[in-house]
Amino acid sequence: MKFVRNAWYVAGWASEFDRKLRRFTILGDDIVMYRGEDDKVCALRDRCPHRQLPLSKGHLMAGDAIQCGYHGLTFDKAGACIRAPGQDNIPKTSVHAYPVHEKNRIVWIWMGEAALADPDDIFSLPEFADPQWHAHQGDALHLKSHYLNVAENLVDPAHVSFVHPTTLGNAASEDVPVHADVDGDVIVAWRWIRDAPPVGFFQKFGGFSGNVDRWHYYYLHLPSIAVIDFGSADAALNLPEDKRHEGVRVFALHFLTPVDETNTIDRWMHLRNVAIDDENVSQSMDAMFRVAFNEDKEILEAIQLEELKPQHHRPVRLAIDKGPNVYRSRIEKLLHAEEAATEGWAQAETG
Ligand code: FES
Ligand SMILES: [Fe+2]
Repeated sequence: MKFVRNAWYVAGWASEFDRKLRRFTILGDDIVMYRGEDDKVCALRDRCPHRQLPLSKGHLMAGDAIQCGYHGLTFDKAGACIRAPGQDNIPKTSVHAYPVHEKNRIVWIWMGEAALADPDDIFSLPEFADPQWHAHQGDALHLKSHYLNVAENLVDPAHVSFVHPTTLGNAASEDVPVHADVDGDVIVAWRWIRDAPPVGFFQKFGGFSGNVDRWHYYYLHLPSIAVIDFGSADAALNLPEDKRHEGVRVFALHFLTPVDETNTIDRWMHLRNVAIDDENVSQSMDAMFRVAFNEDKEILEAIQLEELKPQHHRPVRLAIDKGPNVYRSRIEKLLHAEEAATEGWAQAETG
C-alpha cells in the first residue's frame, strides 16, 4: 500500500479516546490507542509479537502497560516488552509506538519515521483561537473510497452545482470557471459567483434573500487536509477578495484519514464567524453538511467500484480538473521522495 507516511494524520476527535483499548486502522496499520494516566493518548501497533493477538483484546494495566490477552506478554506505553509470564528473562521484543499529539481537541498521529515527527508541523488555523470565531466538530464519515478520490473532491469547486443543488450549490455556478494555484504545500482552487441568488445554506444561515456574491476557496493541504472557505455577502457591497471576513464566512474542514486502499474516514468540522454562541446553529449546520457530504459519499463510493474494474480508456480531463491534477502529481512526488529516502536508509544499513 502506497501512502505518504511522513505526515501527521488525524487519528480521531479528542472525545474518541479514554481508558479503553480501541483499535484504529490508519494507512493499513492496525493501532491500539488509549489515554494514559497522564491523559495523553498512547498508540501502539496492535499486534502481539508472540502469536499475533491484537493487543486491543488484552488489558490495560497500572502504569499504562498493556497485557496481552493470550499469554500475558506485557508492553509499556513506549512499546517495550516488560514482562513475560513463566520466565525470568524478558525477550528482546517490542511493538512500534507511534508519536501522538493533541491539538485543537483533535488527536494527531505521525505515521512515518518517528525521528521526523515535529508537533509544530501539525495543521492549524488562527481562527481556532479567535474569539470572533466558533469551532464545532461534526462527524467521522466512513467512505468506501480511496482517499485520493475523496481529497480530489475537496479541491474541486465545480462538482458543487451538480452534486449539492439544495445546499451548497445551485445552477448559477454551473459555468463559472475555476482558478487553481499552488502555495507551498497547499493547493488552492477557487471561484466567485457574483450577483446571483443565495444558495440554501446562506438563505438559512446568512439571512440573505436578495442577490449575493458567493465565494468558494478550496485549500488542500498535503497530503489530505482540506479547508473550504465559503461564504456570501450582499451583492451591493461588491466585496473584494481580501475582505471575505466582512461577509458570512464558514470554513468547512475535512481531515481525511486513509484506512486502507479502499476506505477513508473523513472527520469534518466547521469554523464560522456568525452565531458563535448559538449551539442550535451548530446542530442545524451539521444537519445540512450531513445531507451534502452523504451526496459526496454516494458519488465517491460509486466511482471507486468502477475504478476497481478493468479499464479500457484513459479518463478524459477537463478544464475544471486543475486542482485535482496538481494534487495527484504532488502526492506522486511525495511518494517518490519517501521511496528514495527509504532506499537510501536501506543502502546505508547494508553498505
Ligand atoms: S499472543 Fe500475546 S502473549 Fe501470546
Ligand atoms: Fe461535495
